[in-house]
Order: sequence, then C-alpha cells, then structure tokens
Amino acid sequence: MDASSLGRLVVVSNRIGDLGNPSASGGLVVGIADALADHGGMWLGFGGQFSDEGHDRPVIRRVGGVETVGIALPAQDYSDYYNGFANSVLWPLFHYRLDLVDHRPEFLAAYRRVNDTFAAALSARLRSDDIVWVHDYHLLLLAPALRRLGHSNRIGFFLHIPFPPPDIFLAAPNHEDIIDGLAAFDIVGFQTQTDLDNYRRAVAAMRKQGEPSQQAEPVSAVFPIGIDVEAFAGMANKAADDVQIDSMRRQILGLKQIIGIDRLDYSKGLPNRMQAFARLLELHPDQERSITYLQIASPTREDVDAYADIRGELEAAAGRVNGRHADLTWTPIRYIHRNVPRTRLAGLLKASQVGLVTPLRDGMNLVAKEYVAAQDPSDPGVLVLSRFAGAAEEMQEALIVNPYVTDEVAHAIDTALRMPIDERRSRHGALLRRIEKNDAQAWRNDFLSALSAVGRRSLAST
Ligand code: G6P
Repeated sequence: MDASSLGRLVVVSNRIGDLGNPSASGGLVVGIADALADHGGMWLGFGGQFSDEGHDRPVIRRVGGVETVGIALPAQDYSDYYNGFANSVLWPLFHYRLDLVDHRPEFLAAYRRVNDTFAAALSARLRSDDIVWVHDYHLLLLAPALRRLGHSNRIGFFLHIPFPPPDIFLAAPNHEDIIDGLAAFDIVGFQTQTDLDNYRRAVAAMRKQGEPSQQAEPVSAVFPIGIDVEAFAGMANKAADDVQIDSMRRQILGLKQIIGIDRLDYSKGLPNRMQAFARLLELHPDQERSITYLQIASPTREDVDAYADIRGELEAAAGRVNGRHADLTWTPIRYIHRNVPRTRLAGLLKASQVGLVTPLRDGMNLVAKEYVAAQDPSDPGVLVLSRFAGAAEEMQEALIVNPYVTDEVAHAIDTALRMPIDERRSRHGALLRRIEKNDAQAWRNDFLSALSAVGRRSLAST
C-alpha cells in the first residue's frame, strides 16, 4: 500500500511543534508538519499546562487541516516523567552513560502514568482507520496502553536517539517492559543499522533468559532521518541579509571560523571538543590568530543535575583556553549559551569554514546535515564528524573522528582548515547528494509506507 492512500495520520510526541511557524523549529518538526499537511491529521503531545493548576482541558489548535492537541499533566508527574525517567534514566542509558543514570522508583511510576494519560487522551479522539506514529523515548509504553484500551489501529514507533548494546540496555529498571511495550507497535524504526542490531540483540538476549512475555515481534527497520535540504539552503542564503551576521563577518574578517551548534548536553562531547581545539593551537601555533571557534550551546533540561554539571564544566573549559591563548585583539573561543534563531544559525553555518560535530554518542545529528546543506557548493567548508553520531553511517566523506582522542580531532580540524578547494568540493558534492537522497521527505514516506504495509493486528494476538 502506498503511504498516500492512508487514513488520517496521528502523530504523538512529548512536545508538539509550532505548526504556525514550523521553519522556526528544528528539522524534525518541519518533517512531521509536512507529513501531517499531506495526510490531514492530528498531533498530540504535552501542551505545557499543569492540570493541578486547574487547566485540565487539552489546548486544541487548528492550522489548515491539522489539529494539535496539547494535553495537561500534573506538575509533579510531568517532572518525574520528563526530568526523571525520560531524561535522568532513559536518555543517559540510551546514550551509553550508565554513570549518569539517576533512578528513583517514583520516576518509573510517573512515566507509566503519563504514558497511560497520553493513551487515554488519544483514545478519546482516535478513529478506527487512523494510523498512529509515535516518536521517541518518552513514549515507549504508549502502544501497550492503547492496545489495553481496545485499539487495533496501525501504530508505528520511531526512536530518535540511539539504542544501546544489550549489556547496557539490560540495566534499565524496566527493560522487560520496554521490549514488551515495543512489541505492541506494528513497526519500530531506528536511525542506524547499529541501533537496529542492538535492539535485535537485546530481544534475543532476553528471549534466551525467557524474559519477554510478549513473543510477538514488531517489524523493525532503519529509517535515517533527514532534512529539507533546499529549504535549509534557502534559509542560509537569506541570512546574508542578517545585520548581526554581516557585522560578525566584518569582525572576523580574514579569520577562518570553526563552528559548533548543539544543545548543551553531555552527549555532545563539548568539553572534549574544546580540549581538541586547544590542542590544535598547541600543535599548530601557526594557526593562532588566523582561526576562531564559535560554539553555540543552547540551554536544555536545566532542572536535571547532569546538565547543570556540564554547563559548569564547559564554562571552565572555554575560560581555560581563552585565558591561556587570547590576547588583546584575538579571542580563540566565542562561547554562547543562549538560544539563537534558526535562520541565524543557518547563516552562521554558511559563514564557517569548518563544521565541528563531535558527539560522544548521538542518534543522528541533523546539524551535520544542515552544515552541508548551508555551504556554498563552489567554495564549501569541511565537516568534521564523530564516528559515534548516527550521521556517520551515511556521511563517510566527512572527516570522521573519534571524539575521545584529542589529538585525532585536533589533527582533523587542522586538515580541514588546510584542505585544497578541489578536495573540499568533491567531498561536499558527495555529501550533498546523499543528504538530498535521504531527506526528510524520504524518511517520512519510507516510514509511513512501511507502516501502511503491515496488516492490521487483531487484538486477540496481542
Ligand atoms: C532530542 C530528542 C527529542 C527532543 C530534543 C530536544 O533530539 O530526540 O525528542 O525533543 O532532543 O530536547 P527536549 O528535552 O528539549 O525536548
């Protein structure tokens, strides 16, 4: 069956994108907004209002043929689910950071309750021929909750973050629940082959121990997420009119700019990256005063301790490098801990000769694709990319690095800065073709076609 012959599309995720202004949001929102616009449908998520403050009705908005439903949750439940189970247990664990897991029993209880609340809100609005697309680690238990309420709709799940190897996954306090929960979806999609293999190995390992009670297995496959290349390139071109970018350009005139744009998350490897930049200055003193490193780290999940810690660590790292290398006329690192509008980010990527995307672990990393899309094909910059970003599976023409090895990253930045134009063009051309092929539209069409191809499940079999 072709995706266009589907019924109404219902998207469920923790956050709802701003459909009135999708291009202001991240690439994911744009991809989903376009899918909803094609099929007509509904997007359900947390609306930001707390039910114990008397806001218990969902906030409903309509943009074109699409309805967004923002549900209310009790404040304590939301915190224990979002800051707690999702971002203090699942996020570190799925990013291979068992050392940062901070589990408390009330977190898991709230996570279950919130997944049930999402299911109940959806259940009240679900039509029998809707197809449901659930996103990310906040809602791993949504399908079983919907099945318990009697829904046999096609339900697909896409995990935007990595799936860890079995030895790490089995440390999740509710790993049986997660595997059983995923089995209640019709399709489970991952960013990379590594993630898919890890998931299948976890299922096999548990089966050996007789653990999963669900013997049914969902269809599982890889759907690498992409961006709308043309739209992003257009945004980068338009940013040429941005006065701040213009003034920045004049200030850094003659300097080559290295750029990093990330949420301030420990998975992004920002302290390692600053250390690598410092190492570059030590190994290649001739680069001093001819380069500048702009790091934008947007605030995120600030109520979680591990995020407060990384903030302190990064400020110290930037201060150390600048204290050591800066002089009256040159600041090696410009570190910005603030949200910057997306159009301006596009312009900054375009104005930078090196894009540094060096996470310690990342589901995909769309900044890697945005950096390539933003470049001028006749004089493109060079992408330095961590082998541990999902994007590395598709983007081998970048300079691929191990972010844990400081000298290797320092050396790659130096190679990028000195790369001759012919090599820059040929690497960029290959990368551009790949991200054009695996773009946002291909991602959603592939996922929805696969979901529409599965048979409807009879509830008796679940
Ligand atoms: C990652 C996750 C998304 C999440 C985003 C921003 O990309 O995969 O699900 O929305 O980070 O994080 P936040 O906690 O602010 O929603």
